[in-house]
Amino acid sequence: MADNGRDLAKQRVSRRRFMIMTINGVGAGTALLIAAPIVGSVLSPVFAKRKTPWVLVADISRVAVGAPTAYVVNLPTDEGWPVPPVPRTVYVVKLNLNGKVQMITLSNVCSHMQCDVHWDLNLQQFFCPCHGGLYSIEGVNIGGPPPWPLFRYEHKLVGTTLYVRNVLTGTGA
Ligand code: FES
Repeated sequence: MADNGRDLAKQRVSRRRFMIMTINGVGAGTALLIAAPIVGSVLSPVFAKRKTPWVLVADISRVAVGAPTAYVVNLPTDEGWPVPPVPRTVYVVKLNLNGKVQMITLSNVCSHMQCDVHWDLNLQQFFCPCHGGLYSIEGVNIGGPPPWPLFRYEHKLVGTTLYVRNVLTGTGA
C-alpha cells in the first residue's frame, strides 16, 4: 500500500516535470522564432558580400616621375554596417624602373602607430613626424620604428584617369 502511494507520487512528479519541460520547450521555440529574424536583420550587413567601389582620384598625367603627389579621396569602407565614406590621402608615385614608368598608390598611414606620413622634399623620403619613421619612395620602411612598408591601394587607370578602391594590397617590401 505504501509502495503504491510512492509510485503514484513518482508518476505525478514525472507528469509535472513533463508539463514543465513542454512549457519551457514551447517558450524557447517561440522566443527563437521571434528573435531569429531580428538578429538576422541586425547582423546581415556584417556578412553581406559587398563590392568595393572604385573611386575617382584625378587625371594624373601631370604627376611627375619621382615626385609623389598626395590626393585626398573619400573612400567608402567595406566592412560591417554601412557608414559614410571617409577621407583618405592617397600618394600617387610614378617610378622609373629600368626605363619603364610604373605607378603605385600608397597609403599615407604609418605602419608604426598610424600617424600620417608625408613626402619630404628635402629628404626625398616619406617622413613620419610622430617618431621619425622613414620610408623610401616605393614606401619601404628604411628608418625609425615602422615595422612594415606603407600599404598600397588597389588602383586602375582609364587612360590617364586614376581610380582607387579601399582595398589595401601588397606592400613595397
Ligand atoms: S607612428 Fe610613424 S614612426 Fe611612429
